[in-house]
Amino acid sequence: MSIDKSTIQNLRQDYRSASLLESDVAENPYSQFEKWFTEALNAEVLEPNAMTLATANTNGIPSARIVLLKEFTNEGFVFYTNYNSQKGKEIESNPYAALIFFWADLERQIRIEGVVEKVSEEESNQYFNSRPKGSQLGALTSPQSETINSREFLEKKLADLEKQYEDKEVIKPEHWGGYRVIPNRIEFWQGQSNRLHDRIVYIQGKDKNWKFERLAP
Ligand SMILES: Cc1cc2nc3c(=O)[nH]c(=O)nc-3n(C[C@H](O)[C@H](O)[C@H](O)COP(=O)(O)O)c2cc1C
Repeated sequence: MSIDKSTIQNLRQDYRSASLLESDVAENPYSQFEKWFTEALNAEVLEPNAMTLATANTNGIPSARIVLLKEFTNEGFVFYTNYNSQKGKEIESNPYAALIFFWADLERQIRIEGVVEKVSEEESNQYFNSRPKGSQLGALTSPQSETINSREFLEKKLADLEKQYEDKEVIKPEHWGGYRVIPNRIEFWQGQSNRLHDRIVYIQGKDKNWKFERLAP
């Protein structure tokens, strides 16, 4: 390794942003999320909708990757993927997931935990139909998460599909669609000086109402 250990250990940022106080936060986490997401958009952070998605298999072994948030409502957080992918298989057998947004420029992290369900076929179709043709064909081309022999395999398959669909609309494949993470816990983390960061977590009770509390950093 050519990177010296101390180079990494000395990477240190002292956060000095506005604090996150109980008196400032919204009554429910969806409004709070909307507020912070709007601020991320206004700050023009790179890929504000990129989020880490953590899933686990039935042995409890976790895996994580980035996906893009495509919709959020009071029902949850939606992303689109290949249902046959590793994440898809893990979600089918163990329908719990965690999401992380990290907006470095704003010194903010949001942690979301909940249950995952597929969005309706109608919603998936609607979103699929709104995508550029190149992305639609990409979804048909890639057996996501499977081993392939070469890049040429993908390029050839895409070229064949481009010909096949030259004058035709692309129909969403069955194995492609959305998942909605329906949260029961959402934490808002705001970096502060001397590592005394602010953490406000909303937890949903059995009555479905949200309460928030402060956690130690
Ligand atoms: C910025 C970024 C955005 C991504 N967005 C998506 C996405 O929305 N859906 C998706 O399936 N994969 C997306 N990916 C690719 C995934 O990180 C991952 O490689 C892929 O989904 C396969 O994951 P799996 O094998 O764990 O299922 C994105 C990657 C990056 C870096």
